Amino acid sequence: MKRRFEGKVVIVTGAGKGIGRACAIAFANEGARLVIADIDREAGAATRQTIEDDGGEAIFLAGDIAEEAYVKTLVEETRLKFGGVDVLHNNAGVVRYGTVVDQSVEDWDYQININLRATFLTCKYCIPEMRKRGGGAIVNTSSAQAVASQRTVAAYAASKGAIVSFTTTVALDHARENIRCNCIAPGSIHTGMLDDAAHLFGPDDPERMIGVWGEQHPIGRVGKPEEVAQLALFLASDEAAFITGAFYRVDGGLLSSLL
Ligand SMILES: NC(=O)c1ccc[n+]([C@@H]2O[C@H](COP(=O)([O-])OP(=O)(O)OC[C@H]3O[C@@H](n4cnc5c(N)ncnc54)[C@H](O)[C@@H]3O)[C@@H](O)[C@H]2O)c1
Repeated sequence: MKRRFEGKVVIVTGAGKGIGRACAIAFANEGARLVIADIDREAGAATRQTIEDDGGEAIFLAGDIAEEAYVKTLVEETRLKFGGVDVLHNNAGVVRYGTVVDQSVEDWDYQININLRATFLTCKYCIPEMRKRGGGAIVNTSSAQAVASQRTVAAYAASKGAIVSFTTTVALDHARENIRCNCIAPGSIHTGMLDDAAHLFGPDDPERMIGVWGEQHPIGRVGKPEEVAQLALFLASDEAAFITGAFYRVDGGLLSSLL
């Protein structure tokens, strides 16, 4: 099978764990040179090791993706090591539960900064590099919660909704430069984030909680990180050359259901 990212330089944020890790490994398996961005040193190093063990090429830079200085360094190091940027996958994201009354201002800022501000920062510094290469592709990670939300996730849902409109504008601004920008909206995906939620909402039997959430998806189960990677890779690839500004669900039918 043709390797769709042979020689391409791909940055994946939050690539230490969960969906980001699955995406980074999938990109590398298709020939990409990976830049792993994550705040978790152990997790980021583990993803790099997995890629190298599989014969791939990767660098890892630890840092907070919401910090401008770190993002600048990340893009500069990518340019020095690999010569530029072809694909940016904004995946890092966090959630903290609470109604707007209960939620602290710090928790609001924490989520908006990592989920939204960081997406602005990475685009700000990667797009000039993509221009130099005659184009590129950006995949932003929204959520089903951009459209239909749970309770107690106001900051998270707001950040994920904003990613959809941010994606549209970036797509318009850079379409003529051959830089595409799309966003993906996962339903419940079995990662550390979902496990943490299951322990919070169903401390007596977190596995049962995951099963309950799975049943809410018409397909009857929660998703796997690798299933999200399939969509991210397609949108980042030349196969999606005529797709920009789009919002794609990977949610087992969740947003189609009235239940
Ligand atoms: N898991 C789901 O059900 C689900 C559903 C919809 C959307 N999403 C979105 O998918 C993305 C990935 O989620 P996941 O479930 O894999 O989460 P996860 O918690 O399993 O992994 C997130 C990764 O991001 C990293 N990270 C967190 N804060 C960071 C920061 N400040 N700087 C750099 N890296 C940071 C973490 O260290 C971790 O490696 C997120 O944007 C999330 O909102 C997840």
